[in-house]
Amino acid sequence: MNKNNNQDFEINSEYQAELGVLAKFVKNLTTIKNPDSMIKQADKGGLKKTLGAVDLIILGVGGIIGSGIFTVVGIAAKGSLEAQGAGPGLIVSMLLASLACVFSALCYSEFASMIPVAGSAYLYTYATMGEFMAWIIGWVLMLEYLVGYIAVASAWSGYFMEFIKGFSKFLPDWLTNPPIYLISDYSTAVARLNSQGIDPSSVIPNISGIPLCINIPGIIITLIIMAILIKGISESTKMAGLMVAIKLGVVGLFIITGLFYIKPQNWVPFAPNGMSGIFMGAFIIFFAYVGFDAIASAAEETKNPQKNLPIGIIGSLAVCTIVYVLVALVLTGVVPIDKIDVQAPIASAMTMVGQNWVAGLISIGALTGLTSVLLVLMLAGTRVLLAMSRDRFLPGILQTIHPKYKTPHILTIIVGIICIIGSLFLNISTAAELCNFGTFASFIIVCVAVLILRKTDPKRPRPFRTPFSPFVPLAGIFCCGGLMLYSMKFLKTSRIIFPVWVIMGIVFYFLYSYGRQREAQNEVNGECE
Ligand code: ALA
Repeated sequence: MNKNNNQDFEINSEYQAELGVLAKFVKNLTTIKNPDSMIKQADKGGLKKTLGAVDLIILGVGGIIGSGIFTVVGIAAKGSLEAQGAGPGLIVSMLLASLACVFSALCYSEFASMIPVAGSAYLYTYATMGEFMAWIIGWVLMLEYLVGYIAVASAWSGYFMEFIKGFSKFLPDWLTNPPIYLISDYSTAVARLNSQGIDPSSVIPNISGIPLCINIPGIIITLIIMAILIKGISESTKMAGLMVAIKLGVVGLFIITGLFYIKPQNWVPFAPNGMSGIFMGAFIIFFAYVGFDAIASAAEETKNPQKNLPIGIIGSLAVCTIVYVLVALVLTGVVPIDKIDVQAPIASAMTMVGQNWVAGLISIGALTGLTSVLLVLMLAGTRVLLAMSRDRFLPGILQTIHPKYKTPHILTIIVGIICIIGSLFLNISTAAELCNFGTFASFIIVCVAVLILRKTDPKRPRPFRTPFSPFVPLAGIFCCGGLMLYSMKFLKTSRIIFPVWVIMGIVFYFLYSYGRQREAQNEVNGECE
């Protein structure tokens, strides 16, 4: 009897011990970070508070209007190998994408005003769902910002080469007409050469069978963006202001000139590929809206963030939606769908109606517009990584702030190098699709987080409250989730890369971040072991 009792006791204690380990593991994964400690920690961070509401709208519009409206709009209207186009119904696609953004923007604003620190969706998740989900969302945000950056850098390089070609009478041939493997990624180079009936292996050099393609204009602009961001955010926003004015100017010129060439018969049939085309168009053109959430990442550098952040986020989204709908109306009214040029749809629409000088100005404006998007995406990417490093998910060296410029210079250099390496492998459409997946995932999580924090911390002051909750957060989850899942039916490449990226994040978390994170928690709570 005694022996049996002892055995029972041993089994029980083993069971208890196992339960203890499991409970500790689950506790670690779901430990949340107190929003107050985030704010306190950020105050010690040393970033300068220089941005007001207008700066934020400039930063927002600077980060939003870019390759989406200058390049991707053609693919959304006409379609691609993997997705059907929306046709003139692009206007509906844009409104759908914008609706998904508005619901999420309202949720972002509630968080950004409540927890105004660098890190955006990553920190909102940390405050509500715990460290594991926070890590996953931070990892996914890297996809949004860094892969989005690669897509825009690729468009920038294309427009830059077009621009340089305009000076072919004055510049040497090696500069205006370089080999394709020096100005693009590998898959774009192969696609172009194949379309010209040229065998890629006869043109692209290789080392031991590894092809060498390097996008030199993309690398140069990335080095310039890195230098600007290291020098300081205040200088960056002044420059972004000028760039925003130029790009809004050329888009306005396109809309006004185009109005005189609209043929209403081009709007018929309105949706040649039915709802499938409209939904895929909405998924693709969503890329044109990516960037407004980046404003929340600049929270720590914002004066009076409780008031200014919601104005910045919602204001910039409103400006862009109006501009996009007008561009879609004019583009599809001026050019028949099958004649839309997918490389430079806006500029070539003007060439088609004989307005060559407008087309030239649009190319210059596009280049400027893309530069400001690059600036904002890299800024947002570095600020999220900064927050993750502060929480010891990533090495502490990334937090180093430059003594003179007060910017995270080491992090900026590392992010720049990652973008340069990534741009060797990813083409613009796959990069844009992956960026969309990352953004949709982060929007969904932010909407969920608003619902959770309303329940777990209802008394916390909310200078901005998402209206009609829970309807608005639920509508955000439904719109973003619906578009994401629908697109997975068609997009063969990115629907594989996205889950692989998430799995890589989980592996990294358990190999590197998991153990260290507990240390960070203790420190945050003031109980260093
Ligand atoms: N929204 C940004 C663009 O269109 C990413 O370039």
